[in-house]
Amino acid sequence: MKLYPIQIHEGLDAAHLQRAAQLYYDAFRRQAGPILGINEQAVAFIRRCINPQQALTAIFEDRLAGFVGLQYGDQSFLRLRLSQFVDRFGWLLGRIRFRQAALFEQSVQAGDLRIESIAVDPAVRGQGVGTWLLNAATDFAGRQGFKAIHINVPDTASDLFKLCRRVGFNYVSTQTRNFLKPFNINNYVTLTKIISLSGVPNAPLTAEQ
Ligand SMILES: CC(C)(COP(=O)(O)OP(=O)(O)OC[C@H]1O[C@@H](n2cnc3c(N)ncnc32)[C@H](O)[C@@H]1OP(=O)(O)O)[C@@H](O)C(=O)NCCC(=O)NCCS
Repeated sequence: MKLYPIQIHEGLDAAHLQRAAQLYYDAFRRQAGPILGINEQAVAFIRRCINPQQALTAIFEDRLAGFVGLQYGDQSFLRLRLSQFVDRFGWLLGRIRFRQAALFEQSVQAGDLRIESIAVDPAVRGQGVGTWLLNAATDFAGRQGFKAIHINVPDTASDLFKLCRRVGFNYVSTQTRNFLKPFNINNYVTLTKIISLSGVPNAPLTAEQ
């Protein structure tokens, strides 16, 4: 399948919310599964947590091919609220699972942007969608005046690490996360790209390959 033109949009359209939740769950199943369970209710729960404004989406023929979730300021792509966990799992288990989910939260400095998540539809991987999304996130960061863009890649995601290096992210550090072992993560590798302020503002976001 030839993926062009891929359109990159700022924000996640309501029509693509369900698909985004499914892609997120599929991509992070090994981390989300132990907390949210392995069923449709987990996808529905993620759907309720998504903050649609904090995303860039890749659309191909009106379908969601992939997305990046963005964190900056006090806004993140997934909004975790204790009340939602309590509603879903009850008073005690809701609190436990909320705390488990909070272990994944990471901070970002004021003036910087962090790619919180990236997921591409498995049916269209290896055709450049991830590359377009990472480049679009860098362009977005430039247009919005952020100083740097970061991504924390789990050490198990070697494909993503390679991809980030290829599009110009540089290795910064490795952080051990022993407390995330039950969720199948040992270390995070932080990669950073310093944003050039001489980037082209308002560059067209429709891409042809
Ligand atoms: C990691 C991920 C986002 C990559 O997305 P993708 O759309 O497959 O990425 P791309 O197609 O741009 O690049 C993947 C490879 O295909 C190659 N490629 C890109 N366009 C291509 C094309 N037209 N023809 C052939 N190969 C191509 C790239 O060179 C790249 O190779 P590399 O690994 O040697 O760098 C995707 O695999 C994914 O969603 N994984 C699950 C989620 C995940 O792991 N998230 C990270 C956890 S935080």
